[in-house]
Amino acid sequence: MPAIRLVAAGAAGALAAALLTATATPVSARPSLAAAPDIPVANVKAHLSQLQSIATANGGNRAHGRTGYRASVDYVKAKLDAAGYTTTLQQFTSGGATGWNLIADWPGGDTNHVIMAGSHLDSVTAGPGINDNGSGSAAVLETALAVARENLQPTKHLRFGWWGAEELGLIGSKAYVNSLSTADRGRIDGYLNFDMIASPNPGYFVYDDDTALEKVFKDWFAAKGIATEIETEGDGRSDHAPFKNAGVPVGGLFSGADYIKTASQAQKWGGTSGQAFDRCYHSSCDTSSNINDTALDNNTDAIANAIWTLSTATAPPPGTVFENTADVTVPDAGAAVESPVTVSGISGNAPAALAVGVDIRHTWRGDLVVDLVAPDGTAYRLKNSSSNDSADNVIATYTVNASAEIANGTWKLRVRDVAAQDTGYINSWKLTF
Ligand code: TRP
Ligand code: ZN
Ligand code: CA
Repeated sequence: MPAIRLVAAGAAGALAAALLTATATPVSARPSLAAAPDIPVANVKAHLSQLQSIATANGGNRAHGRTGYRASVDYVKAKLDAAGYTTTLQQFTSGGATGWNLIADWPGGDTNHVIMAGSHLDSVTAGPGINDNGSGSAAVLETALAVARENLQPTKHLRFGWWGAEELGLIGSKAYVNSLSTADRGRIDGYLNFDMIASPNPGYFVYDDDTALEKVFKDWFAAKGIATEIETEGDGRSDHAPFKNAGVPVGGLFSGADYIKTASQAQKWGGTSGQAFDRCYHSSCDTSSNINDTALDNNTDAIANAIWTLSTATAPPPGTVFENTADVTVPDAGAAVESPVTVSGISGNAPAALAVGVDIRHTWRGDLVVDLVAPDGTAYRLKNSSSNDSADNVIATYTVNASAEIANGTWKLRVRDVAAQDTGYINSWKLTF
């Protein structure tokens, strides 16, 4: 694997600094250890045909509280059990009916760094729910089965989830996230959600949440020459929402529901403009004929690629530096100023001994109060002011216990000059992970 230089050393000046801070390479961009297999779309379609048969045999739907839902859970669970997964049924009650989430853990990997993918397995009562959301459920199932077939040994721990009662208000996924301790939520490095990925008049929408997760999908589609758009139908509309609300980085794919495909979208993706992405959304015609095979194929392969890439990612080499060398003037006896550094590609939390290298040029350093501000806004005091410290400059490396902070995000050096006359500027500063 090639060495990745996150920051070129030695360059100075504001223009160079802007470029430097923008070129930090996230871990997801590095080659993974093994490429994901091409998932046969016929396998995914076979699951869809089973889900259709289950609906047909159970009053035409697979909705929460109906027999077709439990039969869907049993079908997926049996496949996973046979493949060597550790499966768990999580029971909950909604509207007076029992529901279940199905959780499948692939044994192995670092359980402090979990990559999770999930889909809701329930339909509405109006129909069999084959695009919404047999498509996501079948693609995640077949990806999990491919992990087993290839005997993937990821560095991170892999977990898959099939949610109940999404259609009644994300009931199952909320119950799952609520059941996790704060510590266990913090162990999930990413949750990927797939709800409708084979719409008959498809679009290719990528969730615009965590940038590293988004990039894994965008890079895959870009390499295939498939245009993507940001998912804008509404952030709270599927099972990623409870994860996002609990601070878990989320991503996902979506091929469109009841919104209308525009002319420009039809131009880039084909299909029919002026028509919904899924005209059978939440209706009885969401059957096994309501599937675009190409979208199903592409999206399933994109899911497998994301699972392989994210779960086999290795930690960046120790000593990865994120630096901002742009000068920032510190006004005399004035307001605090901040200099940002964006950290990406570091999984989990920041280190307990985070090295903060500070280079501030000033003619009376006792004037200066210096804080490190974490992405969530928590400030760590590096240096207080002192009326009798008349030396020049603050050129020092501070050690901060930042283990309570998520590493990725925008950190800031905040500097305030509290006394009149002497002045200076932030010359550069850096974080070493
Ligand atoms: N099951 C979702 C719903 O009924 C489908 C959906 C609509 C969706 N808009 C979305 C899923 C946007 C993800 C993103 O609302
Ligand atoms: Zn759905
Ligand atoms: Ca001053």
